[in-house]
Amino acid sequence: MGATSGSAPVPVIDIHGLRKVYAAGTEAEVVALDGVDLRVEPGEFLAIMGPSGSGKSTLMNLIGCLDKPTAGSYRCDGLDVSSLDAEQLATLRLDKIGFVFQGFNLLSRMSALENVAMPLGYARVPPAEREAHARRALAAVGLAERASHRPNELSGGQQQRVAIARALINSPPILLADEPTGALDSRTGEEILALFKRLRDDGHTVILITHDAEVAAHADRIVVMRDGVLFAHEEAAA
Ligand SMILES: Nc1ncnc2c1ncn2[C@@H]1O[C@H](COP(=O)(O)OP(=O)(O)OP(=O)(O)O)[C@@H](O)[C@H]1O
Ligand SMILES: [Mg+2]
Repeated sequence: MGATSGSAPVPVIDIHGLRKVYAAGTEAEVVALDGVDLRVEPGEFLAIMGPSGSGKSTLMNLIGCLDKPTAGSYRCDGLDVSSLDAEQLATLRLDKIGFVFQGFNLLSRMSALENVAMPLGYARVPPAEREAHARRALAAVGLAERASHRPNELSGGQQQRVAIARALINSPPILLADEPTGALDSRTGEEILALFKRLRDDGHTVILITHDAEVAAHADRIVVMRDGVLFAHEEAAA
């Protein structure tokens, strides 16, 4: 990753004064992010909490380079994202970021194995290697025996784990997960959280969005979004 030997590690996420205004200058204008500062170190497990509409998914989309900020700066693993063109951004996403979207986003006609293997096609991994790779990823989330099942033949928690295996298939250093336990019973949610902790222990950076304080408590650090402004958890409680 970006760190040079001997010096302090480069933060994997380094955000200053990030603003996002939707429909700027119109009656429908929304200031979704109003000057967000956030620094995340490699190998950190961070939870982002906050009420509905406070800007959490907007921030996740910017961290994931799926959208551009109105103002402010973002360095991802030392790279100034604003200096990259669309193709370079796509490469950055592929190399560095795994997404677990709210509601899984699995393709219903494909098996679990095919869903997991999908990003490898974009990464130009030879077809012969994709299957073995995807099988290992499914095994890592405890679903080796469900490889040929379609999403509708899997439980909610199993679908969520397939989505996580897919997010991890390229071993991205950063995992972004938006309400990954929202649809799960508490036991399955605990399994997902245990998986995230193992990933953190393996050196991945995990950023988890949740409205659930019990879920957030599993993270190393909690930040809270309120009306587009990010607070440390202790500040928000005060
Ligand atoms: N594409 C868009 N165009 C205009 N406004 C938007 C758009 N996306 C989000 N917003 C607005 O920006 C604000 C922040 O939305 P965001 O989706 O980031 O909230 P959130 O914290 O993820 O909420 P939730 O917990 O409900 O998922 C909201 O007021 C929302 O209505
Ligand atoms: Mg959201």
